[in-house]
Amino acid sequence: MPDAEAAAAAVARQIAETVATKPDAVLGLATGGTMEPVYAHLVRAHREGLSFARVRTVNLDEYMGLPPDHPNSYHSYMARHFLDHVDIPRGQSFIPRGEGDADAAAREYAALLERLGPVDLQLLGVGHNGHIAFNEPGTPIDATTRVVRLSDETRQANRRFFAEGETVPAEAVTMGTAQILSARSLLALAVGEAKAAALSSALDGPVDPDCPASYLRLHPSCTIFADKAASSGL
Ligand code: GLP
Repeated sequence: MPDAEAAAAAVARQIAETVATKPDAVLGLATGGTMEPVYAHLVRAHREGLSFARVRTVNLDEYMGLPPDHPNSYHSYMARHFLDHVDIPRGQSFIPRGEGDADAAAREYAALLERLGPVDLQLLGVGHNGHIAFNEPGTPIDATTRVVRLSDETRQANRRFFAEGETVPAEAVTMGTAQILSARSLLALAVGEAKAAALSSALDGPVDPDCPASYLRLHPSCTIFADKAASSGL
């Protein structure tokens, strides 16, 4: 893809097509700067007539220790960029709970994912260090939904979203690699030079826990969109 905008538009088109052909699809959603233009395209598609009324959505992860109305919680992110602007009834969108007992929050989310059944299309970003959701390097392929400690690298990369002096949470609840890989289709998006090293280990390195994004290669239906800058190491 020539640039980040074209890659985001292509990803949004695939999601819109999934919803148009299967109006009650289960969509797996992701957060991060990379996804903001994808949601902008989907909101536009909604204004042009695409309904999400029967869709169910599950998010990949949430910081532990941030209440839902904290501006940097993924609950807030999803409301701001997508959920407040489309017709998905609130009871059909799920994000892990970031408050209270962390292990209980992870258990509840795992049970919810089990109940909902397979995700039809899972959207994924790629971390600077090759993480997917908050499955950091070192995560085995069969990891389940759980509480994780964030690496210094990830906290540093996500620092830019937090106010000066504010602490980036050290823990999160994340969908496990096992759940991610059980989706019917995966759709990953990586843009910008800062993702070039992660993308090249994911696609050209060994499939191993050092780079959880390398597991995507084992999925029978995974499409990865990247712009020129993120593809520069391939
Ligand atoms: C966070 C999220 C990931 C996301 C990554 C990349 O760590 N948990 O799911 O892929 O950030 O974010 P960005 O798109 O801002 O680079």
